[in-house]
Amino acid sequence: MDQKQFEADVRPLYAAKPLYEQWVDAQKIPVIREFYIEDLRDVELKSWAAKGGNGAILNLIGCGDVNDGYLIEIAPGQSLKPQRLMFEEVIYVLEGNGSTSVWNDENKKVTFEWGRGSMFSPPLNTWRQHFNASGEKPVRLLGVTSAPPIINTFRDLDFVFNNPFAFKSRFSPDDDSFSGKGKQWMAKNRPVWESNFIPDVRKLEVFAWKERGAGGGNIMIELSENCMSAHISEFPVGTYKKAHRHGAGAFVVIIGGEGYSLMWPEGEQPKRYDWHDGSVVVPPEQWFHQHFNTGATPARYLAIKPGGRKHVRPFGLKHFGVDQSTEQGGSQIEYEHEDPGIRRMFEEALAKNGVTMRMPPLGAKKSA
Ligand SMILES: [Fe+2]
Repeated sequence: MDQKQFEADVRPLYAAKPLYEQWVDAQKIPVIREFYIEDLRDVELKSWAAKGGNGAILNLIGCGDVNDGYLIEIAPGQSLKPQRLMFEEVIYVLEGNGSTSVWNDENKKVTFEWGRGSMFSPPLNTWRQHFNASGEKPVRLLGVTSAPPIINTFRDLDFVFNNPFAFKSRFSPDDDSFSGKGKQWMAKNRPVWESNFIPDVRKLEVFAWKERGAGGGNIMIELSENCMSAHISEFPVGTYKKAHRHGAGAFVVIIGGEGYSLMWPEGEQPKRYDWHDGSVVVPPEQWFHQHFNTGATPARYLAIKPGGRKHVRPFGLKHFGVDQSTEQGGSQIEYEHEDPGIRRMFEEALAKNGVTMRMPPLGAKKSA
């Protein structure tokens, strides 16, 4: 069952509006319910009293009920209110420079500085406070959180937003907690970068991932002992990736280059979403999706999603056979099995931009 069917057939069976949705209504800020956002820096924000800045909530259709996003702006010279949250959040800096303090114990605060392209995660239920370092320019942050399943599970806002429990296994304040140091390890055949803070994800090294095609590079990211995680994917000029599908809640944030994504539920025509740095697209539950680079530079995106390589995922993003062909019961469409219109559309888009195709001819047994 996809999200559209769920909303039509299952949602009306519930007696009460989920507490998460009641909480969203009570914030009295814009809520975006679309498939994608062309530029996160252009979304109109309104005063968000709970946070002390201007914000919007991103309930993109592809989030299902497994996660959500938000935007928050910190005015020049200002800071947000300190908050602690009983759900995980990953924060990506869309614009501006600032710092964040994280603590359980008021006397042991860890403070670190960030700028455009930084990504970090205040550990679960730690206090966190964000500051704009500039007296002239605003800061805009994107947060991706596990608020919906957590609020709907416990159904008590006091428990979620005003809970004194400190998770010692998630945060120990020392000089390296948010210094940007980390460690690299292998989860089966995939490299993982583990850290609490990445100074600039646009520059993080990626490694070849042959199975997804297009000669692309990838690195998985684990942050702050979370269940949610991230990865970066980069693919060369004149190429596109293979289509695949999985569960809800992968925020695909474009952090470099230009191109488009196609998304479609099985048996329907693909819809096209053109993107560039600052766009976000969230593929709905089990919809096929496929990413195309039509620009003159490599295209890079950051995916922030439920579930990772370190901890068992308690909620969402069912993720089976994403490297395996649909012909073998997997969830990936090999180039030679895709609708011919897909390559034609890509050829036309490249021609329009004067970029040369660098894909192997269709019918070749092996991908690039
Ligand atoms: Fe995906």
